[in-house]
Amino acid sequence: MSSSRRDFLKILGIGAAAGMSAQPVPAASAASSAGPIRLDNNESAYGPSEKVVEAIRVADAEAGRFPSGASAAQLADGIAQVHHVSPDQVVLGAGSTEVLRMASCACLESGKQLVQASPTFPALELYARSTGATVISDPLTPRFHHDLDAMLAHAGASAGLVYICNPNNPTASITPRADLEKFISRLPGSCYILIDEAYHHYAEPSSAYASFLDQPLNDPRIIVSRTFSHIYGLAGLRVGYGIASAETATRLRAFGTVNAVSTLAIRAAIAALDDTASLKEFVKKNTDARQEFVNTALTRSIKQRESHTNFFAVETFNPAIMVIQHFRANNILIAPVSLSWDTWIRVSLGKPEEMNAFWRAWDTLPIDKSAIRH
Ligand SMILES: Cc1ncc(COP(=O)(O)O)c(C=O)c1O
Repeated sequence: MSSSRRDFLKILGIGAAAGMSAQPVPAASAASSAGPIRLDNNESAYGPSEKVVEAIRVADAEAGRFPSGASAAQLADGIAQVHHVSPDQVVLGAGSTEVLRMASCACLESGKQLVQASPTFPALELYARSTGATVISDPLTPRFHHDLDAMLAHAGASAGLVYICNPNNPTASITPRADLEKFISRLPGSCYILIDEAYHHYAEPSSAYASFLDQPLNDPRIIVSRTFSHIYGLAGLRVGYGIASAETATRLRAFGTVNAVSTLAIRAAIAALDDTASLKEFVKKNTDARQEFVNTALTRSIKQRESHTNFFAVETFNPAIMVIQHFRANNILIAPVSLSWDTWIRVSLGKPEEMNAFWRAWDTLPIDKSAIRH
């Protein structure tokens, strides 16, 4: 990997997400009033619900013990119930990143290909390369959809895995469901499809968006990944999962780490699934924050793309690195979008007071903002 790409991934925070060297953060934690305002990693501004925090507290008595098979099975059962599947279709991971890694090991090897969009969440690409597979990245369409025609053209007999991040990080966009179904039906029978739904809860159901867990296709090539990191506010505990046919799930599990999900993470995730009232509240908070962002951007006549997530991709028409440094000097961390989109920034939604601070810093950006305006 080139050093510019490594540096870029560090700024992006993928170091932390993919279990590589962690992103340098100037001061204490997001919760600390002295620390920077963290709008850089798409984490929940609110953290876990009170009920989940309580479950973590109770579980600390078990911290000296290895995770029990029974508690992991209890979490898998809970997930299976939510999605109306059988527990043997659930694959637990230390974050959904681990499920991405398992999929790359199970579906790829030297001589095979991963086909994905660009830009997209980069962890799978890193794991794919480590298997010796090659990676084909097709730029998103002008509407920020996956370019499914291009991806189909590249998904030949040696394509082992197609990655669909929907909604997509870092663009916050969705690719229409009907197009995805047509695309999947045309892929070679030997090619697996990983649908990453890390931001599912933020996307409102519509004719354009439906989860492949809520409206499944009966297709053993499909693996859907989900995470407890975002809406449930558990990014630091590392727990996620994949859902696939029982046979595909068994193939994935063969590459999992034994006891990967910690006792505290298991207890927290079980409590999070149970706390549906808090889930609803977190979704509403995000919907309100997203609308407020749109309104505030509008008052500044900023051109900006729709978001189906808890973050926005914003074209600044200026070097992103300079914009990011300005925010950093104002104690606010934001992220770049990708190496090739070098004038775009990605802004995660924070609490109202954090977003007010973001806009105050925006207003003092030393750039010509006329190009950004409508
Ligand atoms: C699209 C996408 N997939 C997966 C992940 C990894 O999530 P986890 O924390 O579950 O490993 C992230 C993290 O930000 C993400 O943005």
